[in-house]
Amino acid sequence: MQQFTDAIRSALAAQSGLKSSALKIETPRDPSLGDFAFPCFGLAKSMKQAPPKIAAELADKLGADLEGIEAVATGPYINFRVERALLARTIIGEVAAAGANYGHNTSGAGQTIVIDLSSPNIAKPMSVGHLRSTVIGAAIERILASQGYATVGINHIGDWGIQFGKLVAAIDRWGADSDLESDPIRALLSLYVRFHTEAEAGDTSLEEEAQQNFQELESGEEGPVRATWRRLTELSLAEFQKIYDRLGVNFSQVRGEAFYEPYLGPTIERIEATGITEMSQGAEIVDLSTLEKNMPPCLLRKTDGTTLYATRDLAAVFHRWEQFEFARCLYVVGSDQKLHFRQLRGVCQRMGLDWADRIEHIAFGMMRLPEGKMSSRKGRVVFLEDVLDRARDEAFKIIAEKNPDLKDARGVAEQVGVGAVVFNDLKRERIKDIEFVWSEVVSFEGDTGPYVQYTHARLTSIERKAAEAGEGGAEPDWAALADADQVLLTLGRYPDVLRSAGTHAEPSELATWVLGLCRELNNWYAGHRVLGQAPELSAARLQLVKASRSTIHSALGLLGLAAPDQM
Ligand code: ARG
Repeated sequence: MQQFTDAIRSALAAQSGLKSSALKIETPRDPSLGDFAFPCFGLAKSMKQAPPKIAAELADKLGADLEGIEAVATGPYINFRVERALLARTIIGEVAAAGANYGHNTSGAGQTIVIDLSSPNIAKPMSVGHLRSTVIGAAIERILASQGYATVGINHIGDWGIQFGKLVAAIDRWGADSDLESDPIRALLSLYVRFHTEAEAGDTSLEEEAQQNFQELESGEEGPVRATWRRLTELSLAEFQKIYDRLGVNFSQVRGEAFYEPYLGPTIERIEATGITEMSQGAEIVDLSTLEKNMPPCLLRKTDGTTLYATRDLAAVFHRWEQFEFARCLYVVGSDQKLHFRQLRGVCQRMGLDWADRIEHIAFGMMRLPEGKMSSRKGRVVFLEDVLDRARDEAFKIIAEKNPDLKDARGVAEQVGVGAVVFNDLKRERIKDIEFVWSEVVSFEGDTGPYVQYTHARLTSIERKAAEAGEGGAEPDWAALADADQVLLTLGRYPDVLRSAGTHAEPSELATWVLGLCRELNNWYAGHRVLGQAPELSAARLQLVKASRSTIHSALGLLGLAAPDQM
């Protein structure tokens, strides 16, 4: 498709004398006007004429220059329309030539992008916030990889802090009579709850013990506290792994905050050496109000000598820079941590690090489940595993009803159920909050993952039937695809959509696009039969089906959804 916009741009450049890279080609809001549009407002000054006049004059001249593309002036715009057979042949040809790599490019070659994603806190059930981070982060990583970047996905596990002092205290007291081995996360959760109930009921020794435990952890001593902490880390990671397996997510590195312990001293020294640290009420801080009025200082070390979440993130970002010299370092973390990441970047800016601007907080909104708001202190939590199980079971019900003879219905129900949850998370702009409505999430219709998967399965079945009937071998009549022009144009936009979704770290751009493609396809399909037509017509329609199926397949893959052949 780019060959059309390139041709339009260079013809416009030749006529207007402007550089072709400066000419922006748009998509008309009303598709009946044309496939592409060029607004002439920007030329008014240099050509000393009113935009509608420029449009009219240029359209005439361009018409002669452009082969297979018609140019028509409408008010201040020039609208372009590609001849339909050419459009079909070109776009389907591009998809067929690139196959599964259609839309991919190598523009990022030689550059590394670090993506901090998932990053749950151990000893707690993974929250829906961490589900969002996992799903959004993994999609961003795959999309960026499709643009040629080397990507490094890092799971920055929260395994450090006072809560582990608390847990160790709770395990010491009551661990023996809990089922830590058989159901670790639930057991740890109830130990955590018990700690708070008993502490609130007046057992002051608990908080003291927790404090001591954490200090012992920070001292690096290889004693019983560290042994218990290690055990709880391993138990938690094994549980998280079950969810990652179901989501099909892998990490290049799994690094707990604890990993950075040995780097904390040198990190603080390095910041001190730039002369930006100060003492304030016994704590060591970096003032950030010079960067942004009212920005609170970043705390590096508390009065009792212990470090903070921010200190560990500073150590981590230095380490990442040294390892990767990243072009971007993305943190896929909830919008509630906005200040934290402004401070992280702020400290790097004040240190004069020229890569500070490569730190980006890829923020997302909250997800509200119908089951209610969570509080792990009170033991009121929704287990992600339960959410995925329920989605799978709902999908199974629908499959049993619609397609009772389906082979491996359980396996497909898992793909569809997980796909439903993932897509529901990705389809809206990430910064928006999500209201989770079960009946919407797993529906095979509307803006859902199963709807896209179902469209894919339907196209697959057409291909299968064509192969069985030996159809589709004739020379395609490309002009006959004029009635599918909106499908073709949507397919043609895929490379741009991927590029933009990567730049903005916004998988919803891809999710919205694939929904649009399915909608166009289903509209078209409702009025047209593919098989059993004149051979040239069937062949052309079948080519459209193939190109669409393979592109939907690749889009689903990038978003992290399976594409079952039948459902
Ligand atoms: N564990 C943190 C939390 O659950 C998120 C960590 C995000 N990544 C980071 N490098 N700070 O709130």
